[in-house]
Amino acid sequence: MTAQVPVIAIDGPTGSGKGTVSRGLARRLNWHLLDSGALYRLVALAARRRGVSLEDAAGLVSVAETMAVEFSAAGDEEQIMLESQDVTLALRTEDAGMDASQVGAVPEVRAALLERQRGFARAPGLIADGRDMGSVVFPESTLKVFLTAAPEERAERRYKQLREKGIDVSLATLSREIVERDQRDANRSIAPLRPAADARVLDSTGLTAEQVIETVLRWVDEAGLTAGS
Ligand code: DC
Repeated sequence: MTAQVPVIAIDGPTGSGKGTVSRGLARRLNWHLLDSGALYRLVALAARRRGVSLEDAAGLVSVAETMAVEFSAAGDEEQIMLESQDVTLALRTEDAGMDASQVGAVPEVRAALLERQRGFARAPGLIADGRDMGSVVFPESTLKVFLTAAPEERAERRYKQLREKGIDVSLATLSREIVERDQRDANRSIAPLRPAADARVLDSTGLTAEQVIETVLRWVDEAGLTAGS
């Protein structure tokens, strides 16, 4: 199924700009978008709301298989619904991110989300944002991009993003959490955070999102991914 649909996999640590860049690419190419981090955040949030412990692998699998989620976008505003409730804001908190990092370390949860993620690959193409997009979920993706940026700049970006959304955080706490999350994500045995062997690494320190998007679009052209569209 997924082989006919071109997939661009975008990975990178928190604050590397992969969310912004993925959304921008999806808009520019008019392709679908899979925000896989949101799925992990949703599993954790749904588990908490159902009283399922984040340590309970079987309980988490059941949540991952049965949670009703809906992604929609109106202009620049994306909306995520869980069991008919708008959870867009609740998902973006640092706590939700830490929870997601924890449930993402459970192999059974990753397996349970596999088919749901593959279902996002629809014509004319998919931008797949997240950890194991190029290595596990869409190994046949034509272009794999790994975005990086200096940790201080990533903390600053997250800080601005969260403040814009009215979420109150301190830059010092955020920096500490980013380093902590990087370490956990990079050192875990399953789907660790590191570039796939065939990924192109792009350091976005000092670049605007627009400059990063332009670079990736050039690679898309070079790969002949949009030929004919
Ligand atoms: O991209 P994000 O910040 O929304 O992801 C939140 C956490 O979810 C991240 O710290 C690790 C986990 N995650 C994952 O394990 N696999 C993915 N494909 C995406 C996210």
